[in-house]
Parts: sequence; C-alpha cells; structure tokens
Amino acid sequence: MVEIELRPEEFDLFRRYIYEKVGISLSEQKTTLVKGRLNKRLHQLNLPSFRAYYDYLVHDESGEELSLFVSAISTNVTSFFREGAQWKWLEEYLTALVASKRDKKIRIWSAGCSSGEEPYTILMFLQHHLKDFEQWDIKILATDISAKVLTKAIAGEYEAKSVESLSKEIIHRAFDKVRTESGAISYCVAPHLKEKVMFRLYNLVTDPFFFKNKFDMIFCRNVMIYFDDTTRHDLIERFSTLLPKGAPLFLGSSESLTSHRETLKLLGSSIYQRL
Ligand SMILES: C[S@@+](CC[C@H](N)C(=O)[O-])C[C@H]1O[C@@H](n2cnc3c(N)ncnc32)[C@H](O)[C@@H]1O
Repeated sequence: MVEIELRPEEFDLFRRYIYEKVGISLSEQKTTLVKGRLNKRLHQLNLPSFRAYYDYLVHDESGEELSLFVSAISTNVTSFFREGAQWKWLEEYLTALVASKRDKKIRIWSAGCSSGEEPYTILMFLQHHLKDFEQWDIKILATDISAKVLTKAIAGEYEAKSVESLSKEIIHRAFDKVRTESGAISYCVAPHLKEKVMFRLYNLVTDPFFFKNKFDMIFCRNVMIYFDDTTRHDLIERFSTLLPKGAPLFLGSSESLTSHRETLKLLGSSIYQRL
C-alpha cells in the first residue's frame, strides 16, 4: 500500500475542522499520527489525497465519517471498574445518597462511555451495594461521539479477558455466559442490567445540553485529554449546571481542574463535588 502524503496545509484544514467540530486540539506533532492512522481509510475510500478526504469528511452529513476520524485519532481504551479509588469512595457516598432518596430514583450520566464498560460497571456496582437493587428506578445515560464504540456497547458482549479481573459473584450476577461461533466463551451483560442504560450518539462539544433534569452523578473520565483549556472549561461549566449541590463529577485520574473553584471542590482521586 503506497503511503499518501499529508501536506502541512492539508493538516491545517483537519486541525481547524476537528477543533471546531469535536473540541480536539491537534498539535503539529500529531501530523504523523493523522497520516498513519488515516492512510488505510483513504485507500478504502479510493481517495487520491488528504485534500480529497477532507472534502469527503466535511460533506458527510451523517456524521459517520467524523465519528470514524475521531476513533482513528483518539483512544477508546476502557475497562470494567477502571480508577479503583473512585469506586471505593463511591461506596461511602452511596450510603448517603440512598438515605436522601425517598423516590428511589437514581440518574447518572456516563459521558464518553466508549464500548460500555463504564456504564455497565456503574450498574454492577449498584447491584452489588444496594440490597434492594430491583426496587430502585435506575437509569444511566451513556453517550459517545463514536458510533463504532456505541455499537459494541449496545451489544454488551465482552471477551473472557475483559472480565477476568471481576469477582465470580459479579460475573455471575451481571453476565450471561455464551459460546461464540468460533467456540470461545464470551460474556453478555444480562438483560435486566442492559435495559437500564440508554446509549446515545452525542458530541459533548457541539451538541446542545437538552436535559430537563439533573443527574445524581456524572462520569466524564479520560475524555477531555485531547480538549484545549477553553473547551474543557466550557464543558465543565455545563456539567456543573446539571449537578445538584453535593453531587460528584468523576474525571480521569490524569485529569484535573484548574478553574471552577467556586462551583466544584476536589475531594481526591479526580472526584469533584458540586458546591
Ligand atoms: C478513553 S475513552 C474513555 C472511556 C471511559 N470514560 C473510561 O474512562 O474508561 C474516551 C472516549 O471519549 C469519546 N470522545 C472523545 N471526544 C468526544 C466528544 N467530543 N464527545 C463525546 N465523546 C467523545 C471517545 O470516542 C472515546 O470513546
């Protein structure tokens, strides 16, 4: 396969477009990454140059190409019970939350949910810690900009190695074990958990915040790593409006906030509490 060159002026077009559409800020050092990751796509589409691919991308009104582009240049890496310290903290917080909830309703947003491990972990966690789990009205909104990862999340089927770190009890209660056509064992999230998650394609930077009600907590972990300060600031501002006083916002362990001291207080382990 002949490698198609990415000229500086072409890279600049992508850089501006991606920033405007997704908030991802591509520095010039990312030229090699974009060229390397997108070459195969240009060949698949039979396009002769990155300029031609740019035209294809901006004219695709379905948003599918943008979603593919973002998947190619960013990471969708995720896992069950990622960021262990946060789940530990949540055990204690849950006791207080449960005591304050007469209506037995819990609403959570997993923003940038990738292939579903994060929202399903939230449910496994709640199932494990709430004795009367089935009596609760629990809904998780799980959103991502990538249609590819959402397809996997909606299927809710995971290889044995993805669940190997989970306890036997959690596996037993949260998954149905199935044998795939190739004879391998895979783990499907049980229907009674799956039905509590609403997966949606959603761009955190450009799509409107249409939510009528607030969330009891928001997870936006390892998503803002590519965003510049302005984009990050605006998004956190909007998250703040959707959290009631005392509710937590979970970020990734390598992410921290330098602004919003008057609305969000750091509790440790990248957990912020709405003031
Ligand atoms: C590294 S994964 C994190 C998954 C999960 N939150 C975790 O911490 O394990 C980052 C996800 O953010 C999504 N993402 C990146 N930019 C986004 C945007 N502007 N709107 C919505 N999702 C976005 C990516 O598609 C990717 O699936």
